[in-house]
Amino acid sequence: MEKFVINGKTNLKGEVTISGAKNAAVAILPATLLVNGICTIENLPNISDINIYCDILKTLGVKITQTNPNTVIVDTRYVSCIDAPLEMTGKFRASYYLIGALLGRCGRAVVGMPGGCKLGARPIDQHAKAFEALGATVEIGQGKIMATTDHLVGGSIYLDTVSVGATINAILASVLADGTTTIENVAKEPHVVDVANFLNTMGADIHGAGTDIIKINGVKELHGGTYSIVPDQIEAGTFMLAAVATRGDITIKNCITKHLDPLSAKLKEMGANIEEISGDTIRVWCNERPKNVDIKTLPYPGFPTDLQSPMGVVLSTAEGTSMISETIWESRFQYTAELNKMGAKINVQGKVAFFEGVNDLYGSIVSASDLRAGAALVIAGISANGTTEVHNIEYIDRGYEKLEEKLRALGADIQRVKE
Ligand code: UD1
Repeated sequence: MEKFVINGKTNLKGEVTISGAKNAAVAILPATLLVNGICTIENLPNISDINIYCDILKTLGVKITQTNPNTVIVDTRYVSCIDAPLEMTGKFRASYYLIGALLGRCGRAVVGMPGGCKLGARPIDQHAKAFEALGATVEIGQGKIMATTDHLVGGSIYLDTVSVGATINAILASVLADGTTTIENVAKEPHVVDVANFLNTMGADIHGAGTDIIKINGVKELHGGTYSIVPDQIEAGTFMLAAVATRGDITIKNCITKHLDPLSAKLKEMGANIEEISGDTIRVWCNERPKNVDIKTLPYPGFPTDLQSPMGVVLSTAEGTSMISETIWESRFQYTAELNKMGAKINVQGKVAFFEGVNDLYGSIVSASDLRAGAALVIAGISANGTTEVHNIEYIDRGYEKLEEKLRALGADIQRVKE
């Protein structure tokens, strides 16, 4: 077990380069199962969720060669249609993408009931609904999900809830199905578009990703090729919020500034300075106490739930009282109890949290309850007076590549220490 020890209070300053998107990568790796060939995946984030995914794919006979820390060559020509070990697939949420991909490749998928961050109930009824609409049978029970089919046939899918996972899984299952599939009420997140772009690069026929309706014309097979994963919108947003929380000045490179609009708009409302230097570089700086704002998390292009906790750190020392309404995950305010240990004044009432801005946070011993909460507590520690210890940092390692190295390059005093 490791922890971060952070000595505040530092104004983060300098340049940071954003890695490939975790949430795109954890879908694109299983999507390679639909290819009968060799894919080179570039800009892959070097994080623990990716290492676990590669290990799972290897159990299915996929050959994976790492040519540098952020590039892998994935050879899916010799896939065995066997079940991946349940103890591996049950470890993290994104293993659900194996279902759509394996249904397309093998007509059968068995996956351990997905684990992952503890954000509240994480149903998969919409995934099941999509697979069934394409002719699969889905059974859920005894800690696993089993989906089988003789033959996938294109169909109409209307999702009851806007779900990133169900949208991507429906795309995966329909790419090699017979005929045309339409999916309505879909998620429009950048990583949904990126998965569609990857599949189209390999020969799929997907239209409308990023809009309200996605249409997929099934193709007979996909071929290999090279694909570079989109920059991580959430990592970029985390550094933007770190700049404001620490009253710093950060230039964020290798991001897609358009994907950051929902956050940039709020930060401008709070009085932070944002300069779009180019389509892939943005500078954020803030010398004064930010103004209070109200925030509601929503599917893209709304304010992302994955930036709710680092935004909570900013609001903890903003002027006046701010409010966050969390509409996606019911347990996403656990970090507020940790911030209160650091002197914040946050009062949670159900799905709403009220942040009464204080002048300063001070160091404390805190613990990450999920990936994004972990990053938020690290930012809080850098902005606080004194020393902060952040425990449970294995959550952070799941999704942020070299977070402490990137923060150190911006001036933070942060060390990884064995417990
Ligand atoms: C993805 C992201 C996660 C992010 C979330 C919302 C990945 C690997 N993870 O998670 O970081 O916080 O999107 O942007 O990309 N729902 C149902 N039934 C379903 C599926 C979802 O009711 O079958 C509900 C969920 O409970 C939640 C909402 O839909 O309230 C959104 O969930 P979803 O978009 O599916 O999240 P994930 O894909 O799991």
